[in-house]
Amino acid sequence: MEFSKELGHAVSRRGFLKGALVGAGALSLSSRLALAEALVTGKRPLTMDDIQGNGVMKGIVQISANENPLGASPRAIEAVAQHMFEMNRYSFGTRLPFMLHKLHGIALGDFNLANLDFDNPASFRALREKLRIMISAGSGPILQTIGLMTVGDGTGEVIEAQPGYGQVAMVTESFKMTGAKTNVIRVPLTTDYKHDLNAMLKAITPKTTCVTITNPNNPTGTLISHDDLTKFIDAVPPTVMVFIDEAYIHFAQEPNYKDGIDLALSRENVIVARTFSKIYGLAGMRIGYAIAGPKMLGKLMLYSGFGGGLSVLSDAAATAAIEDDDFVGRSKKVVADGKNYLYSEFKAMGLEYIPSHTNFMMVDLKRNSQEVVRELRKRRVMIRSGMGQWNMPNFIRVSIGTQEELEVFISTLKDVLGQKTVG
Ligand SMILES: Cc1ncc(COP(=O)(O)O)c(C=O)c1O
Repeated sequence: MEFSKELGHAVSRRGFLKGALVGAGALSLSSRLALAEALVTGKRPLTMDDIQGNGVMKGIVQISANENPLGASPRAIEAVAQHMFEMNRYSFGTRLPFMLHKLHGIALGDFNLANLDFDNPASFRALREKLRIMISAGSGPILQTIGLMTVGDGTGEVIEAQPGYGQVAMVTESFKMTGAKTNVIRVPLTTDYKHDLNAMLKAITPKTTCVTITNPNNPTGTLISHDDLTKFIDAVPPTVMVFIDEAYIHFAQEPNYKDGIDLALSRENVIVARTFSKIYGLAGMRIGYAIAGPKMLGKLMLYSGFGGGLSVLSDAAATAAIEDDDFVGRSKKVVADGKNYLYSEFKAMGLEYIPSHTNFMMVDLKRNSQEVVRELRKRRVMIRSGMGQWNMPNFIRVSIGTQEELEVFISTLKDVLGQKTVG
């Protein structure tokens, strides 16, 4: 962006230069250097004033919650507008489960939605026997339900990677409040921040009811290959449920990467969860789903009240988004480009990072990250510290924003770390 264009003709460059440098007295050294450089070259880095993220207030860089920086699928927005006068209705007759079966190539045999007889329970039973997908208000409630399922008679035991997303383990652990004798085993990641599948296998005890795998992992963004996942699942006793959370699977940057859906369909003890929150940009609409064989799906439905049902608007949004290949492609691209930009910036700054298969990444600041996160927040840049639950106190987790958001994040981070901003 041209500095002179912004200023218009009213202020001469020289006069502005003088005034700006005097006025910059209150700024940090790195900010003043950046300003001086901007004045000399006629260019300046983007600032907060330039930022208007999608779905967020102007002047805030919101890159803490792994949301889609492009906004929502335009087709979903259009569909919501079209259906907004139907808020008084339930979303009976949704086509979403059928579309999802088709999307994942799951056959529904000769079942035809048009033949569903609402007055005949046998008609619903026939459908349920064929269904392999349960829709839910976000995938978070599915994770909650997995936690409930694993607690069972009050003695359930969950194995989860550390650091990992942690929700299933947290639910299971929370049952201790009720006097339940539940147990959680947290298995450290390998030194390259991947799931240690061998150690997770070894950790299984006769009490273990569930192993949770987040693939790719949150917060480290690391990916397990389909081969390794298959071998792992085959080695887990069939009485132990294996839950695979694929919230970020669309962002896996591995040519021909195969997801775990076939494992959920071919093994009685495997459940896969997916969400519309990330790739389709529908976090605020709360839509997710689980894929499993009939036994596990039946149990999930029982514990979750059939997934709780979707709102008419969420249903409309998801039904439209699922066919928006253009948006899916753009979402993948903005994330891949954003990661490449961050990789090169972090390299130039001498910071180590964990290469990521998700729409976020972790960076080692080699100092307490909580203070840095606080300073960034004061400057209206929202990211997460690896401190606390993840026990990675020197790391920050940065979600991939738009190019503008990432540029402002980088220049603000440099400012906070006392490094010079290059315009
Ligand atoms: C690994 C993982 N699983 C599940 C969720 C829950 O997502 P949602 O409830 O929006 O589908 C998240 C949210 O960020 C996540 O990171």
